[in-house]
Amino acid sequence: MKLDRNSETDHYFSASPHSKPRFRLIQAYLRGRQFKFLTASGVFSKKRVDLGTKLLIESMILPETGYVLDMGCGYGAVGIAAAAFNPKLRVVMVDVNERAVRLARRNIELNRVDNAEVRRGNLYEPVKGILFNCILSNPPVSAGLATVKAIITEAPKHMTEKATIQMVVKSKIGGKRLQQIFKEAFGNCTILARESGYRVLMAEKK
Ligand SMILES: C[S@@+](CC[C@H](N)C(=O)[O-])C[C@H]1O[C@@H](n2cnc3c(N)ncnc32)[C@H](O)[C@@H]1O
Repeated sequence: MKLDRNSETDHYFSASPHSKPRFRLIQAYLRGRQFKFLTASGVFSKKRVDLGTKLLIESMILPETGYVLDMGCGYGAVGIAAAAFNPKLRVVMVDVNERAVRLARRNIELNRVDNAEVRRGNLYEPVKGILFNCILSNPPVSAGLATVKAIITEAPKHMTEKATIQMVVKSKIGGKRLQQIFKEAFGNCTILARESGYRVLMAEKK
């Protein structure tokens, strides 16, 4: 995928948003715990933690130890929550959007987690060589099906045996199609949670 450095229009998945950042501090109560996140224009769901993101956080099954990847971390809600809920994990958060990466780093500090880090880049490129016990993602559907499909089909190469991938999707926008892609890539797919038009899909690397 090309990074759209020269694009005149900002999307939440732009590599370098051009708009002047307008910052805001939001609070969220997630899985029984209070978090605060610095957000800004040019990143996904800047006004509040997205409903799909919340559903993923509420339903995600975290390993006891090992590496967790938050693919497409935005300002960091999923990865920071995973790191806070299990301090024994090492959480790596990846995003292509440099503004999101800076915010996620700031939010790691704001929420005082010391077992998470953020890397900027395209999909799995910044985490070459790491095998993850769990991959979590609220994927960039607006960037196109090819990007979402790549997150799923390239995942097995970056996972340990018995690792899981857990992804929240809008049921109407490709829910069934993505379930099929999960089955083709992993031979299995279960629905972890279903609420408000979203579903959390999970597959295990057998
Ligand atoms: C739907 S948003 C989710 C953000 C965050 N996880 C949340 O739930 O609030 C998807 C994120 O994927 C990022 N993204 C888009 N294309 C990407 C790529 N090729 N590699 C890494 N991240 C990408 C976007 O910049 C965006 O922050």
